Amino acid sequence: MASPCELAILAIQISVPYPAKALSYDDYRGTAPPFPANYTSPILPSSSGPPGPDDNLFQNVLAAEWIIFNFYQQAVEVFNASSFTALGFPNGTYDRIQEIRDIEAGHLRIFQDSISNTSVKPGSCAYEFGFGSDPTNFLAKQIFIEVSSMVFATGLVQQAQASITKGALVAIGEAETRHAVWALIDIWNADPFGGPIETSYPYANQILDATNQFVVPGSCPAANPIYPNPRQNLPQIFFANGTSGAPGGNITFTYTDPENVPTFEEGRPYFAVFFHGLENISVPFDITTDSTIIPSEFEEKGIILAVISDQEGAPTEDSVLAGPLFLMQQPGQLVGSL
Ligand SMILES: *[C@@H]1O[C@H](CO)[C@@H](O)[C@H](O)[C@H]1NC(C)=O
Ligand SMILES: *[C@@H]1O[C@H](CO)[C@@H](O)[C@H](O)[C@H]1NC(C)=O
Ligand SMILES: *[C@@H]1O[C@H](CO)[C@@H](O)[C@H](O)[C@H]1NC(C)=O
Ligand SMILES: *[C@@H]1O[C@H](CO)[C@@H](O)[C@H](O)[C@H]1NC(C)=O
Ligand SMILES: *[C@@H]1O[C@H](CO)[C@@H](O)[C@H](O)[C@H]1NC(C)=O
Ligand SMILES: *[C@@H]1O[C@H](CO)[C@@H](O)[C@H](O)[C@H]1NC(C)=O
Ligand SMILES: *[C@@H]1O[C@H](CO)[C@@H](O)[C@H](O)[C@H]1NC(C)=O
Repeated sequence: MASPCELAILAIQISVPYPAKALSYDDYRGTAPPFPANYTSPILPSSSGPPGPDDNLFQNVLAAEWIIFNFYQQAVEVFNASSFTALGFPNGTYDRIQEIRDIEAGHLRIFQDSISNTSVKPGSCAYEFGFGSDPTNFLAKQIFIEVSSMVFATGLVQQAQASITKGALVAIGEAETRHAVWALIDIWNADPFGGPIETSYPYANQILDATNQFVVPGSCPAANPIYPNPRQNLPQIFFANGTSGAPGGNITFTYTDPENVPTFEEGRPYFAVFFHGLENISVPFDITTDSTIIPSEFEEKGIILAVISDQEGAPTEDSVLAGPLFLMQQPGQLVGSL
């Protein structure tokens, strides 16, 4: 049952207007975290009963949203307008970052309220994004964060039970898309479009799991469910310096955690499966060199996802042995190697 403190949070939730009815989720400017991010604790169930049909999904996406919110919130705290203008980025850059931060707070609120009162609403952990005080590194990661959230929305839609959940996920993915498009135009002077279709990947929890790289180990509140739930904890892949992330390139995979690497059987075929748009292409994966060739058929647009699988086409979640790796094609391959 909820503590008095948690009930107070619920009471404030009722008194603070809802996103789409309040400008505070757009036009607040300041370094202090806006509501509801000014309360970081998990909110325990306030009533008993069975969970809502999409509670598990919304718990996963709320935990992901805490990561995204904190990415922007940390930037708002570390940088100011001159951090960006000094490097030649447009005058409005810092203002936009605050606006996106507000919008992400609105997403926190929407996801909290989408979890029924019989399930815990996950709280904030501690996060480390590695951009330090480098505005350019932050802006490169911004595209990566936004495009990966667009991709996980495409997978979560495929898990959702209720139609209203599916609509909500598309609408959230669209909001994130606008953030990516803004950056491509204003920050990178790049083509804002990613081809006729963005990448759809069915195993959303694998993408969510990749965002655990930003969570400080052991920092999550004990009442939070495991993130994501369920979690495969697959080996995460990265690519060796000097190899290309572009179509046609020879790519050498590396594993980010030496304690968590796939076990390959000698003599068995393995595949690097690349996803782009609605297509996937499987390429033999050489387990002695950890290398493969990125399919040259794919356009150099948006994002290409790569996984290692023991089956062509990675037809089941369990057939994926490592990944996914995000190969960012816009504004260039730089971002994939962060
Ligand atoms: C959090 O924000 C809400 C809405 O602005 C405000 O009512 C509440 O007092 C704030 N709480 C804290 C602890 O800052
Ligand atoms: C921005 O931050 C820098 C470094 O901390 C500081 O020197 C500068 O005065 C700040 N500028 C504004 C407009 O606050
Ligand atoms: C940036 O925009 C602000 C607010 O519109 C304005 O006051 C300032 O002069 C602009 N700075 C530059 C360098 O254009
Ligand atoms: C959840 O609890 C809040 C606060 O007690 C209440 O206003 C809201 O109607 C409840 N939501 C549901 C779906 O029961
Ligand atoms: C990658 O290789 C280039 C060229 O050899 C080098 O300048 C750069 O520092 C390397 N980057 C990393 C992260 O090792
Ligand atoms: C990619 O390049 C590496 C290093 O030159 C080489 O060992 C490997 O065989 C190449 N991989 C493929 C699939 O061509
Ligand atoms: C990859 O494509 C094949 C062939 O169209 C399909 O059977 C398979 O399900 C696809 N894999 C995924 C993960 O969608």
